[in-house]
Amino acid sequence: MEKNRRDFMGKALGAWAGIGAIGALYAAKRTWDPLPSVKAAGFTTVDLSTAKPNVLNVEKWRGKPIFILKKASDMKADDRDVVIGSDRFHVSIGLCTHLGCIPAYVRDEHKFKCACHGGEFDASGHQIGGPPPAPLQIPPFKIEGTKLVLGEAGPEYQKMLDTGLTV
Ligand code: FES
Repeated sequence: MEKNRRDFMGKALGAWAGIGAIGALYAAKRTWDPLPSVKAAGFTTVDLSTAKPNVLNVEKWRGKPIFILKKASDMKADDRDVVIGSDRFHVSIGLCTHLGCIPAYVRDEHKFKCACHGGEFDASGHQIGGPPPAPLQIPPFKIEGTKLVLGEAGPEYQKMLDTGLTV
């Protein structure tokens, strides 16, 4: 009797957790608007011309989530920004530098928060709290007009590498 009750409780909890996980994924999907992009031979070309300020876009490049965040005018500029015309973008590999979870972007706070162990990054990807040992990493990129080619190291990315802004 006690075992059956435990089995039932276990299944009920499992179902509840499953519903929660689906809800979290749906919420993440709603805030992760992909931009128009083309994938070919290890490169992902993303058109940034329709990006909206302070809305996180998540692209996929070589199986990794790539965060692309157009900075709003009230968001701090940073040396790690990708500058296209008069717009500034934060571009990073969306994996926490602690143990690899995918942080969520909190728009009101302009922060990435990692639910796994409480790590926090600002909107430029600098770690500002919790255990992450390093900023969010910047993927190789090249700027072509209003497009970003992920996977190709252009001069702007090379400069970030040379100055230690990413590894
Ligand atoms: S994996 Fe992000 S804080 Fe641990």
